[in-house]
Amino acid sequence: MIDSRISRRAALMGAGAVAMWLHSPARAFLQSMAKLPVPALVDGLIARMTVEEKAGQLTLNPSAWGGGVATQLNPPTSGPSWEAQLDEVRRMQLTGVFNSNGAEAARRMQTVAMTESRLKIPLLFAADIIHGHRTIFPVGVGEAASFEPDLAERTARMAAYEAAASGIDWTFAPMVDIARDQRWGRTMEGAGEDVLLGELMGAARVRGFQGKDLKATDAMLACAKHFAAYGAAEAGLDYNSVDISERTLREVYLPPFKAAFEAGALSAMASFNEISGIPSTGNPWLMQDLLRGEWGFEGFVVSDYTGDEEMIAHGFAKDAREAAKLAFLAGVDMSMTSNFYRNHLPDLVRSGDVPVARLDASVRRVLAMKAALGLFDDPFRRIDPKREKARSRTKAATALSREAGRKSIVLLKNDGDLLPLPRSRRKIAIIGPFAAGQHDLNGPWVIYGDNAEAVDLATGVRNAVADKASIQVVQGSGVEEPLAGGIDAAVAAARDADVVLLAIGENEGMSGEAQSRPEIVVPAPQQALAEAVATVGKPMVVVLKNGRALALEGAVANAPAILVTWFLGTETGNAIADILFGAHSPGGRLPCSFPRSPGQQPYYYAHKPTGRPNPGEKLEPYKAHYRGIPNSALYPFGHGLTYGKIDYAGLSVSPTLPWAGTLTVSARISNRGTRAAEEVVQLYVRDRAASITRPVRELKAFRKIALAPGESETVRFTLTRDNLMFIGRDNKPVVEPGQFDLWIAPSAEAEGLHGTFELTAG
Ligand code: NOJ
Repeated sequence: MIDSRISRRAALMGAGAVAMWLHSPARAFLQSMAKLPVPALVDGLIARMTVEEKAGQLTLNPSAWGGGVATQLNPPTSGPSWEAQLDEVRRMQLTGVFNSNGAEAARRMQTVAMTESRLKIPLLFAADIIHGHRTIFPVGVGEAASFEPDLAERTARMAAYEAAASGIDWTFAPMVDIARDQRWGRTMEGAGEDVLLGELMGAARVRGFQGKDLKATDAMLACAKHFAAYGAAEAGLDYNSVDISERTLREVYLPPFKAAFEAGALSAMASFNEISGIPSTGNPWLMQDLLRGEWGFEGFVVSDYTGDEEMIAHGFAKDAREAAKLAFLAGVDMSMTSNFYRNHLPDLVRSGDVPVARLDASVRRVLAMKAALGLFDDPFRRIDPKREKARSRTKAATALSREAGRKSIVLLKNDGDLLPLPRSRRKIAIIGPFAAGQHDLNGPWVIYGDNAEAVDLATGVRNAVADKASIQVVQGSGVEEPLAGGIDAAVAAARDADVVLLAIGENEGMSGEAQSRPEIVVPAPQQALAEAVATVGKPMVVVLKNGRALALEGAVANAPAILVTWFLGTETGNAIADILFGAHSPGGRLPCSFPRSPGQQPYYYAHKPTGRPNPGEKLEPYKAHYRGIPNSALYPFGHGLTYGKIDYAGLSVSPTLPWAGTLTVSARISNRGTRAAEEVVQLYVRDRAASITRPVRELKAFRKIALAPGESETVRFTLTRDNLMFIGRDNKPVVEPGQFDLWIAPSAEAEGLHGTFELTAG
């Protein structure tokens, strides 16, 4: 797509310049540089750079291509025109841009860098490739419901294959923030509430994005974000303060980052929030002592969008100069959007406030990354409009989107085996704001995908049934506002149908960044629609669209069948139909607990017992529960049904785990039903007494299995004492001998099979 605002001069310059570049002395120079070992190449450049050019290498801005569309998912800025931005490139005032649009834009800008700038340092192109590029996969929390890290790796790989072909070297993903308060809108982007699932999904996405060789034309640099504890915002309010202990930070919020770095992620993004009074962007303990010192991270850190500037609003920096100094000295190598580094670092270095050695160290990290991405060998390696077209929306990507979509769906409830539905002889009414139409299919955090190219629910259902005329579609309601006559039309359609699919929930504007919700319920007009349709008395399947856990109420909670379908992306309707009509058995499990009431937030299964626990359903006086509801989830983490009938039996746990040995655990899982089944077998432990109180349960391992009707499988797990590690009184990892409970169960709150063991002292 070429924007008409792009000048003719720029267009001509772009077209001719690559040829010019190919034969230029600059290219010959670069080729000779590229032959040098990376440190020599990088140091050679640093030795020739001015302080201003160095600050430019640490400055990343939204692309001005297309009149600033790059800021569409961020607060608007008064960025420069495309021409002015090209001039910044010429003057080496930018390290790269983000959220641009396609190979053509990248080609034009890179050409200026390579032919017209003084030192011809290649630009880096970044983008928010969160859950797909043009082919859109389920949102992160949905994909986490698959409990298949391998799937997350494959979708990230495919996203990199598509996106890297359009010139993108670096994705601002994966988001590995643990989300334990479902009011927080960015729950949709991560892997939910659990540490182990968060670690596995985060690491898998890093492997997928980066592939085996960062230089490859289908590899993108990954960025673990938002470092750190962004998901721990008080009251689930996006950007809000975080005040947690170092222990909780280390035990809950940091492990997915560590896992992402161990998987090879070579960049990190500082989080917007403060932790106990110190904004992450200005926190040297976080960015240096821990990240580089303790963890040995060798990549670079970028601020979030205006994160350095926001330290003024936080009340941490008095002005722009001080904000730049605090962020830089804290260890944030690159500044996104504010321009604070290029505006202030040169002067800060001259005044001695910032040592030049620190400046050089950050520039070295950035240049070394450009080298690792192969940009010094060939600055245009990912920029190829033909390849971009050939790799866009391939059949394989579409098929993967459908696979990921159906694997992300969670069947919460299926009374009377209402699902799967027969494919013929039934009249189906699809009712609700998400019944049909090219909207809200891709979900939040999509820049390059188009809802108009995605499959809606009605189309998916029509594709799956024999008699397309048996389907009626009625909107019934708006998302957050009633629709005149909608309920009457919906009730009439329900009366005329054999079965109702009620497609309700959140639209894509209701979750994602800055979309915290005080009440995590189905919006009132849709709840009213559900109540009215339920009175008709037809079998009703609720097909929920959501970016977070919701507290289900009334007719929605009471519907005989409920499917959680998140935002599934390109193949939404087909993926849902795969489950509705039984082409596949549901295999998704909740990565975040669905509470009984919105007021329970933050609710997560791995909570502490308190001194007055009330674990059962029966409410006991003076025990820890809200008035009228048990202190548990309506549908807990790990919950999800399948179409087979799963039976857990034959738990075997060795009675002791020797200090230096292993514990073997096994159970026999059987499918006693008549349909194929998918089960996620989960292993939880509880430390009965420790020097620090421990959660009521913690997930330590899981296995996803497929069972044919009548089939059984013995699932085995092995634990070592490392699995029982926690953060002790001195904020260091510790393992303590003692008695442990263990469960092999279908969810975090199901009894499943219970055993005990003892970790003996070494
Ligand atoms: C702000 C978001 O917090 C971050 O995740 C994103 O990568 C940047 N904006 C850039 O779009």
